[in-house]
Amino acid sequence: MLTSPAPLLISVQLAALCRVRHDHRMDPLRHHGDVELRPGLVDLAVNVRTEPHPEWLSAPLLASMSDLAAYPDQTRARAAIAARHGRAPEEVLLTAGAAQAFTLLAQVLTPRRAVVVHPQFTEPEAALAAHGHVVERVVLAPPFTLDPGLVPADADLVVLGNPTNPTSVLHPAPALTALAVPGRTLVVDEAFADTIPGEPESLAATRLPGLVVIRSLTKTWGLAGLRIGYLLADPALIRALTEVQPLWPVSTPALVAAEVCATAHAAEERIAHEIAADRAYLVARLAEIHGVEVVGTPTSSFVLVRTPGALALRERLIARGFVVRRGDTFPGLGPDWLRISVRHTAVTDAFVDVLKNEVH
Ligand SMILES: Cc1ncc(COP(=O)(O)O)c(C=O)c1O
Repeated sequence: MLTSPAPLLISVQLAALCRVRHDHRMDPLRHHGDVELRPGLVDLAVNVRTEPHPEWLSAPLLASMSDLAAYPDQTRARAAIAARHGRAPEEVLLTAGAAQAFTLLAQVLTPRRAVVVHPQFTEPEAALAAHGHVVERVVLAPPFTLDPGLVPADADLVVLGNPTNPTSVLHPAPALTALAVPGRTLVVDEAFADTIPGEPESLAATRLPGLVVIRSLTKTWGLAGLRIGYLLADPALIRALTEVQPLWPVSTPALVAAEVCATAHAAEERIAHEIAADRAYLVARLAEIHGVEVVGTPTSSFVLVRTPGALALRERLIARGFVVRRGDTFPGLGPDWLRISVRHTAVTDAFVDVLKNEVH
């Protein structure tokens, strides 16, 4: 059984300020799974789907290559994304991946008290710190359930993920909307929302003052190299973010991908159901291994595990041909944590066979 210590509220003003002057490559917040990949290794570290693109996606992408002389026109993609979420185009900002949205927010917002709920994707905090903002952390303890009461009442910027990377935990929508109080910007990173059938807790279609929802199209659609995501918010904030966004921020092929993916509901649902089945299989196989514990209730395309000596175990797994994501660079975790991507059952079987032998 896990112990569940009271969640911690940790103030990291000094560390955040220091990071502004640090080399990004030395900053654990700027460590991402892609740098853990090496040729020849089976990738269980990056949560991007690696299946070949379906014809309905690859054909328009290839066709867009003959249209590269023209500057990109966002009209159709923006309308398609807006329609997908029952929004107006004026409520949509297309971005070069969800990652760009964090940088734009950090440029435009002027929070007096910014809070990031961890463990979560580290880029929001890194972007805020890089733009000189003081960041406080609310660190959730296992099993990473969100208690809105942990967030300081006077925080005027709150950032969290749903479902959250790396915990794979999905917070209920009411716990999130409870955080949308007057005078506060609430940023919900839904980069992995489309990995969950029906997206039950998504706030993408919800209009609340100060609510910002960030989405990615790079995960489910295997488009990390194309860089395409978007942000949903009220038109005034969208206009302010557009002011600081680089000119022509999203390429024509990325806009084409956004347009066609926005209407691919059936394929999206099918993939989400496949992920759910493959994840259930992975969780069941991991349960066979003494000393490896899946923590929290995973809901997305990855699971978080605790196992003593995870960092050394990870090195042994690499020697055996499998790379998983280190957990220690996520605030609130440490050297005993690993994040494992959900893959097809055959890959999971091969991985679990190796893992069984390498866990001491
Ligand atoms: C939770 C989360 N949000 C956002 C991103 C950024 O995604 P994108 O590739 O769309 O920039 C990532 C990438 O790993 C992520 O894990």
